[in-house]
Amino acid sequence: MITLHEPAHLTSPAAAVRVSYLTGEQADCLLRGTETDWLGPASDDFDDFVAKRCGVSTRWGVPSTVLWYISGEHYLGTLVIRHELTPQLTDVGGNVGYHVVAPWRRQGHATRMLAAGLVECRRLGLDRVLLTCDPENVASRRVIAANGGNPDGNIAGEDRFWVILAADQNAGGPAKRRPS
Ligand SMILES: CC(C)(COP(=O)(O)OP(=O)(O)OC[C@H]1O[C@@H](n2cnc3c(N)ncnc32)[C@H](O)[C@@H]1OP(=O)(O)O)[C@@H](O)C(=O)NCCC(=O)NCCS
Repeated sequence: MITLHEPAHLTSPAAAVRVSYLTGEQADCLLRGTETDWLGPASDDFDDFVAKRCGVSTRWGVPSTVLWYISGEHYLGTLVIRHELTPQLTDVGGNVGYHVVAPWRRQGHATRMLAAGLVECRRLGLDRVLLTCDPENVASRRVIAANGGNPDGNIAGEDRFWVILAADQNAGGPAKRRPS
């Protein structure tokens, strides 16, 4: 296992992790069998790719923030915050989406990344966050549960969870789940 010499943190996309971003995302796409076409243009002009992902932009029809989970030169994953919900996002997608690239999975990164993402959500003014998840996605369900996700049924085949954000939400780690 590669040793990370710095604790990973959520940050705006950064050109400094070009190589690990591209190799990590490529490995992830190949594992999942998803499109890799976008990696060519991204590698040709990574500065532009990064610039287009920094700050608040409209995605899914709402203001959204893309954050990368980074430790030193290593890119580990992405977390997206959708500042508002549309009817579609209320059914599928919710406020926060995330993935950890395949080489870094099963090391607790997603659990810690979501905890850090919830701090950012609070900073953005959200007082509760909707997460949706395929019922078969055991790993993501555990990540959500470890971060205080309270189940709220299933819509359109996705399980829904709300995380209530404390006024003093901090980066101390995953939250305790509220008793139901
Ligand atoms: C879901 C995902 C983000 C988890 O990332 P990760 O960094 O491996 O997660 P963690 O290491 O924090 O693991 C969280 C828990 O899930 C468990 N877990 C991780 N991968 C697992 C798997 N494939 N099968 C079963 N359990 C798994 C871990 O053991 C851990 O359990 P614990 O809390 O009881 O110790 C990652 O698998 C991923 O990116 N998947 C594709 C995209 C995705 O599904 N995103 C979420 C959409 S809702």
